[in-house]
Amino acid sequence: MAETQSSDAFVEFERVQKSYDGETLVVKDLNLALPKGEFLTMLGPSGSGKTTCLMMLAGFETATHGDIRLDGVSINNIPPHKRGIGMVFQNYALFPHMTVAENLSFPLEVRKLPKTEREQKVKRALDMVQMGDFGGRRPSQLSGGQQQRIALARALVFEAELVLMDEPLGALDKQLREHMQFEIKRIADDLGITVVYVTHDQTEALTMSDRVAVFNDGRIQQLAPPDQLYEAPQNSFVAQFIGENNTLEGVVKEITSDKAVVQLDNGELIDCKPVNVTKAGERTLVSIRPERVEYNKDRLQEGAHTLKAEVLEFIYMGDIFRTRLKVAGNTNFIIKTRNAPDVERLKPGQQIEIGWLPEDCRALDAV
Ligand SMILES: Nc1ncnc2c1ncn2[C@@H]1O[C@H](COP(=O)(O)OP(=O)(O)OP(=O)(O)O)[C@@H](O)[C@H]1O
Ligand SMILES: [Mg+2]
Repeated sequence: MAETQSSDAFVEFERVQKSYDGETLVVKDLNLALPKGEFLTMLGPSGSGKTTCLMMLAGFETATHGDIRLDGVSINNIPPHKRGIGMVFQNYALFPHMTVAENLSFPLEVRKLPKTEREQKVKRALDMVQMGDFGGRRPSQLSGGQQQRIALARALVFEAELVLMDEPLGALDKQLREHMQFEIKRIADDLGITVVYVTHDQTEALTMSDRVAVFNDGRIQQLAPPDQLYEAPQNSFVAQFIGENNTLEGVVKEITSDKAVVQLDNGELIDCKPVNVTKAGERTLVSIRPERVEYNKDRLQEGAHTLKAEVLEFIYMGDIFRTRLKVAGNTNFIIKTRNAPDVERLKPGQQIEIGWLPEDCRALDAV
């Protein structure tokens, strides 16, 4: 039975749970609402439930509990081919014995569209991915990136408003993957389609998405635009999973709404921004991004906290310098500096003082 609801979400998961065996929940309590036109990425480690969520939305799996709505209508009981959703799988699954044009036309034939209409739609979809001249080739006569474009065209041929993509670029080499990230994003923007994209590649997620849902253990850990996710992680899992992150272990000594005093395990006291700690006595992992750490005294901002550090390794990376330090017992503390003539190249064994602003230093849960 179709149910309508008041919010203007285009895709909505409400309290969705999924168990395959009737015992273990692989999706625990999924709440997610996307407006039309959004590019949303589900990012998370292997086994965290991303594909399962996509399959429930596509209709190839049913939710054990909860409701999934498309444009306000509950789709739990609508079969996959009636949901009007385009799908791109990791192994593009093009039919090898058919030409590119036949591959695209086939699903339209199954739906009994007349020939002229099929031809128009196929041409339009191929043009969208700039493969208009390749209709007569077989998949084996195309490069990996071209095959990927055809798989994308096949998802677009229905003119679906919602397209789901599960690790669509996993099989491509780095350069082609980066090119296709840009292409997919451009096509999605041009057509105004809503995309739910799955990847475990955080760079891909950050560069393509309007918002990213970070999954772990069957739950969304944080749902936010890329910059917020990177700059304001809400818990230790997200801080570690997204980008490079330095952690220092300690205990909360004092806490107010805007400041937590943390005693690091080496005895030093530092001021932090309390994010995912609630009371004194609690253990915490303090999180600081490498590029927020300064070691040049002249550039230290007022109010910065300083700590002693020993240089363990200096890595020249071209555009940036990446230096590994020992700080408060952590021998894997990374700092990053832009390569510029006036930036000192630190040497192993050197004793330095590093500093950062308390607001860049987030007290998170100890995991
Ligand atoms: N058909 C199935 N039957 C039983 N268990 C399944 C089935 N499909 C997935 N699972 C289990 O559900 C959990 C979530 O799997 P899912 O495929 O959603 O993860 P994922 O986040 O997509 O991982 P990956 O990044 O490896 O693709 C895993 O523990 C997996 O073993
Ligand atoms: Mg998967």
